[in-house]
Amino acid sequence: PRVAVVFGGRNSEHAVSLMGAGSVLEAIDKDKYEVIPIGIAQDGRWVLAAAGQRFAIEEGELPSVDTSGAALALPPGQGSIVAYDPGSIPVELGAVDVVFPVMHGPFAEDGTIQGLLEMAGVRYVGSGVLASAVGMDKAYMKTVMAAAGLPIGRYLVVRERDWRLDRERVLKESEEQLGWPVFVKPARAGSSQGISKAYDRATLAEAVEEARRHDPKVLVEAAVSGREVECAVLESLGDEPPRASRPGEVKVEGGQEFFDFEAKYYPDQMSLTVPADLPGEVAEELRAMAVRAFEALECEGLARVDFFYTPEGRIVFNEINTMPGFTSLSVAPQLWAASGMSYPELVDHLVQLALH
Ligand code: DAL
Ligand code: MG
Repeated sequence: PRVAVVFGGRNSEHAVSLMGAGSVLEAIDKDKYEVIPIGIAQDGRWVLAAAGQRFAIEEGELPSVDTSGAALALPPGQGSIVAYDPGSIPVELGAVDVVFPVMHGPFAEDGTIQGLLEMAGVRYVGSGVLASAVGMDKAYMKTVMAAAGLPIGRYLVVRERDWRLDRERVLKESEEQLGWPVFVKPARAGSSQGISKAYDRATLAEAVEEARRHDPKVLVEAAVSGREVECAVLESLGDEPPRASRPGEVKVEGGQEFFDFEAKYYPDQMSLTVPADLPGEVAEELRAMAVRAFEALECEGLARVDFFYTPEGRIVFNEINTMPGFTSLSVAPQLWAASGMSYPELVDHLVQLALH
């Protein structure tokens, strides 16, 4: 089978995608699959990966899609993607059997590329349009999870109009309903981009402005104090239900207040303990909740579900990621490694799921 590994994307998690794609390209079985690496540049251009494409952070510098490769025309034809050298006659790249979008964030993990591939009749790894779109939008994600009976924290949605017309009311409502501190997040972003913590009305106003640089729709969440525990869920190839990995616990090691972008992607800033040191019944409850979240959203392929475990022993659902960070050292692959599935096996399983 021909597998197009697509990476990059028009969003602030561009570099994170490249790091994941670098691992996938290294691990995927080249005897079994014909692999076509395709980059989507920050400006939205699609290119065949250039020979010198860099995927890793080097000397602190984030990778990005190198656009010197052959440009690809979009939208793809029925089951195929057309390639052409700019200024020359289009060359048919040929049908691909499956696309592996190793991408995160808007125009990548939010149902848009999934919709494009549906329209083109190309199979792809991971969740479909609805699960991707709802999973990307923290406001709708919470609505769905609450309806599925998952425990969620208190929050407010600040829409563009609310902020433009009456920000004083937003600040007051937040103070009255959520107290301090709060976390302020763009509704549709990832990797902690645009997230900050606010302690009073003044820092909240700044935090909303910061989040709005990523998305006009913003969430304000009451801070939940607790350990951060995460569980990955994987669809099965047969008729068995999706299964959950062992839960892991993540800790910030770099002195940051929370898991900001740096803690997540620069070396030695974060630690992961698998299995998390939890009472057996709590670990089981987490796994059951993770599967419930996966099913509530009708996810496909893989997802990572993030929770807080409070000192009082409560579990609070934080979020689900339909295309979780996917380097071989990222949390979801590490959780599967500790649950008996190696990274190359995980990559193969996901491609096989998409092909079936
Ligand atoms: N959004 C990042 C990639 C994650 O959830 O892991
Ligand atoms: Mg996320």
